[in-house]
Amino acid sequence: MRVIGVETSCDETAVAVYDRTRGLLSHRLYSQVSLHRPYGGVVPELASRDHVRRLLPLVQQCLEESGSSPADLDGIAYTAGPGLIGALLVGAGFARSLAYAWGKPAVAVHHLEGHLLAPLLEADPPAFPFLALLVSGGHTQLIDVAGLARYRILGETLDDAAGEAFDKTAQLLGLPYPGGPAIAALAEQGHSGRVVFPRPMLDRPGLEFSFSGLKTAALVALRGREPDEPGRADIARGFEEAVVETLAEKTRRALLATGHRRVVVAGGVGANQRLRGRLAAIARATGARLYFPRAEFCTDNGAMIALAGCLRLSRGEHQGLALGARAQWDLAELTAQGD
Ligand code: KG4
Ligand code: ZN
Repeated sequence: MRVIGVETSCDETAVAVYDRTRGLLSHRLYSQVSLHRPYGGVVPELASRDHVRRLLPLVQQCLEESGSSPADLDGIAYTAGPGLIGALLVGAGFARSLAYAWGKPAVAVHHLEGHLLAPLLEADPPAFPFLALLVSGGHTQLIDVAGLARYRILGETLDDAAGEAFDKTAQLLGLPYPGGPAIAALAEQGHSGRVVFPRPMLDRPGLEFSFSGLKTAALVALRGREPDEPGRADIARGFEEAVVETLAEKTRRALLATGHRRVVVAGGVGANQRLRGRLAAIARATGARLYFPRAEFCTDNGAMIALAGCLRLSRGEHQGLALGARAQWDLAELTAQGD
């Protein structure tokens, strides 16, 4: 079984071809980061228009690179949500049209299911069940993954997502969009402990997160000092350590509470090296094994959508002609559908 996947939920246009037996055959991505950078964040209308421009060439390149003709494909998978609705509709309309023209089934994929399954693209993939820490620009969740389409949310953020906190704090520090990598780079030059940030929600039981206070703490720290480079670096360092420590400690508690022996980290913030280091230490201490996708498959990509679509299609799941794109879509709904 071979599936082409299309991802357009935000500011990356991405396409990939995944083969059930041979694995990932090709993947291509066009990042719109430079398009949105002058605005300090993603401009939805610009994102939609750029997806229109990029999709066809990326599909052509992926077909060539993977040595596939449309006849070799068993389906077309596309991200149906959650995300920016205009951007999603471009990908959904495009994928649906390809499916119609090529006479193949179209498979609507949940973007977060794509992220969750991304570690399965690697050479030594995790077996089910596992605990997943999903940390992206829009979501921060600890998920009990019993199997494909069997997801239970154990805890999530009550306000900002971890990536959103990175992006907003980066803006306060005058750093470019996207903020995560920019803060991580600046934090390397800063000193631990010079600017102390709170550790939100660690003083209470439960697996919920809250990150909006860290952004306010960064604002307060900025007011009290000269906006010089060492000062900003110390703030970046303190902020990053607070986010990482909070994510890691809640993950540790979730491992102990569920008894899982495998933990998967997925989503854009999963590319953060300090977070990976802390989670590796926690995995060692709790006797669990840590899995994460390579950095380029932590952030949005087509490979995870092609893979998730292929797994769904092999269970006989695909959609008709109706165009389903949803800006909001709770991952837990997939479990209800699957049961
Ligand atoms: O998963 P993703 O590509 O898009 C969403 O589905 O949201 O995640 C993007 C988020 C952004 O907020 C970005 O700042 C963050 O992931 N990010 C990072 C790093 N790389 C990307 N955050 C912290 N450290 C990084 N190295
Ligand atoms: Zn994402």
